[in-house]
Amino acid sequence: RRLSVASGPLAGKSVLITSGPTHEPIDPVRYIANRSSGKQGHAIAAAAARAGARVTLVSGPVTIPDPAGVRVLRVETAREMLQAVEAALPADVAIMAAAVADWRVASGSGQKIKKDGSGKPPALSLAENPDILATVGTLAEGRPCLVVGFAAETQNLIDNARAKLQRKGADFIVANDVSPETGVMGGDANTVRLVSRDGVEDWPTLSKEDVAERLVAVIAAKLADSGE
Ligand code: CTP
Ligand code: CA
Repeated sequence: RRLSVASGPLAGKSVLITSGPTHEPIDPVRYIANRSSGKQGHAIAAAAARAGARVTLVSGPVTIPDPAGVRVLRVETAREMLQAVEAALPADVAIMAAAVADWRVASGSGQKIKKDGSGKPPALSLAENPDILATVGTLAEGRPCLVVGFAAETQNLIDNARAKLQRKGADFIVANDVSPETGVMGGDANTVRLVSRDGVEDWPTLSKEDVAERLVAVIAAKLADSGE
């Protein structure tokens, strides 16, 4: 299918990326979701493709266009996202940038839930979704050489990011403060700190495109370093 041999720092590498939110249905007209535009994950997919990688992007529901030169798989729920990721493996690099809903409704309703006139809201019982990053990061067989996650936090950024690095078996965590006043959610800029076992690197406030470029450069250097 690829007629020309790609060039660039990620030539010959396959990169699997998740992006966007997931939607967890409550009933046919309502859902639970995270705030996520998909801008950061999509920008990473575009940057990896420009760097010569074969890129698969598993995207939740977003309104932004597909990045150029990328295979895009669209999903709705966290469980569909996990399935698509597992089907897309193996990959040299996995970057899990999606804002996955932590919970789904345990038993979604096939019919629209109606107000019953009592003034009492219905009780939703929730079930925890699978952790896609942790699943990929701790694969016994076929784990990507590099696994990158994000940590969206509103407090204790670095402690929480370090804990996620450990718990999910990631090589890097891109930690960002998503407090409402930062404007990161839905905005075009991002201030991130890159957490690895080697320490923490503070990056300046950059456009999401520039964060993507820089992350791709770090990944290419790390792969080259480890002789991959
Ligand atoms: N993630 C995932 N699957 C989930 C939840 C999170 O793949 N079910 C990934 C995200 O894509 C991100 C990283 O895990 O790369 C961290 O997501 P975050 O929501 O910050 O972490 P959680 O483990 O869900 O912890 P919490 O929301 O309680 O802070
Ligand atoms: Ca979460």
